[in-house]
Amino acid sequence: MDAPVPELQARAAACADALRDADSVLLASHIDADGLTSAGIAATALERADIPHDVVFSKQLDDEEIAGLAAHDHDTVLFTDFGSGQLEAITEHERSGDFTPVIADHHQPADADTQFHLNPLLEDVDGGKELSGAGAAYVLARALLGEDATDLAALAVVGAVGDRQTVDGELVGANTQIAAEGVEAGVLDTAKDLALYGTQTRPLPKLLEYASEVYVPGITNDENGAVRFLDGLDLELHDGGNWRTWADLSHDERQTVVSALLKRAVRHGVSSEDVTKLVGQTYTLTAEEPGTELRDASEFSTLLNATARYERADVGLAVCLGERGEPLEAARELLREHRRNLSEGLSWVKREGVTVEDDLQWFHAEDRIRETIVGIVAGMALGSDATESDRPIIGFGYKNDEETKVSARGTSRLVDQGLDLSEVMSEASQAVGGDGGGHTVAAGATVPRGREQEFLDEVGDVLADQL
Ligand code: C5P
Ligand code: C5P
Ligand code: ZN
Repeated sequence: MDAPVPELQARAAACADALRDADSVLLASHIDADGLTSAGIAATALERADIPHDVVFSKQLDDEEIAGLAAHDHDTVLFTDFGSGQLEAITEHERSGDFTPVIADHHQPADADTQFHLNPLLEDVDGGKELSGAGAAYVLARALLGEDATDLAALAVVGAVGDRQTVDGELVGANTQIAAEGVEAGVLDTAKDLALYGTQTRPLPKLLEYASEVYVPGITNDENGAVRFLDGLDLELHDGGNWRTWADLSHDERQTVVSALLKRAVRHGVSSEDVTKLVGQTYTLTAEEPGTELRDASEFSTLLNATARYERADVGLAVCLGERGEPLEAARELLREHRRNLSEGLSWVKREGVTVEDDLQWFHAEDRIRETIVGIVAGMALGSDATESDRPIIGFGYKNDEETKVSARGTSRLVDQGLDLSEVMSEASQAVGGDGGGHTVAAGATVPRGREQEFLDEVGDVLADQL
């Protein structure tokens, strides 16, 4: 089998050699679903290749964090799902002999280069849509282990889905090559199916009621309506005393629900663009227990976000490494809290409203929304009717007494019109003494507290140039 993403093979081989040459490796990764799956893939690969290693996580890779990594006792540091944006600081440590950096990332690279640098953007592969951090880590694992790594493709798909890399409901480009390896390895199944969140774990009426992807009148946000809709179908809805889930339904039963749902949506005037969003490509992890969060890539990624964004990356990593039992129970508990926080955060934004300006809209949650999830809430708000859909959204939240976290989210339509939030965050934050970066459609920054207004003015200037 040829390795996926041929464009990256030379870089992957060089990175793999550097890791084989290491006495011991410190693996450093980012605290979101993509960062955790990146770490799960890379740590498993190092383990299988008998390379001694430790794993650490970081919210934001700034100079101080990098200096902390340098203080460890490892000759090589492997960065996954970050590192490319911080090349200047990293290469400084490389020059002073603190460690050999190896980077597997998909963020916009800073203006410097290093010898062992695996990033799709360096080879004209789209790092926003075609390859995630976990995908880059997978390409590296394949270079280290050959076909002994292909079972890790399932985690790479979870990372890509967690980074919202799907386009019109499905993975594209390099990501599809990785998904195909997962299917071949027997760990992944892809199918056209109902594209709502919660097919594995939500009781059927809740699946329909809570679906925020598409608003279907009389069903979305309407508990009784969702139950009435299901009651009207020729379908067994319960198993014993419990509601069945989507995962419990047979192929034919699913067809029955989907066609009735599509009919209902059309009849109630849902736009054809929205109607098509009800069905999409789904990614099932076939080695996982049916009816669990781990079985569906989208639910798995949310479960992971619920751990590392609450300082429990250890729990998320354990789940990625295949541990079940206690870590999985801990992750589920964290997921309940995460859901509550997201729902409260979104309600707060809806209640307070956003401030709409020429090319942007913004809200400042201060300490009402945890800074590690302000970006998720901003993204949910942008997809809701509480905001304008024709301009990016900026969310602020306090990070600590001195700093404010910024998260920016756009849409692919805006990116097509020239939006590059990575550039916006990087330039505007640096103008006020902060730092930032990311992707065209989603980026973030840290700025000094009290300089938010000044920062917004800078953002407005850069956006006016882009749009
Ligand atoms: O650091 P990393 O690349 O892993 O994070 C990307 C972030 O951007 C994720 O939190 C992901 O959910 C977000 N994103 C988004 N909307 C998109 C694409 C990415 O909110 N369309
Ligand atoms: O934190 P948030 O979810 O808003 O991050 C969106 C994207 O921007 C992520 O890919 C993250 O790694 C990136 N980011 C960055 N520098 C920052 C903050 C976020 O590169 N200071
Ligand atoms: Zn990522």
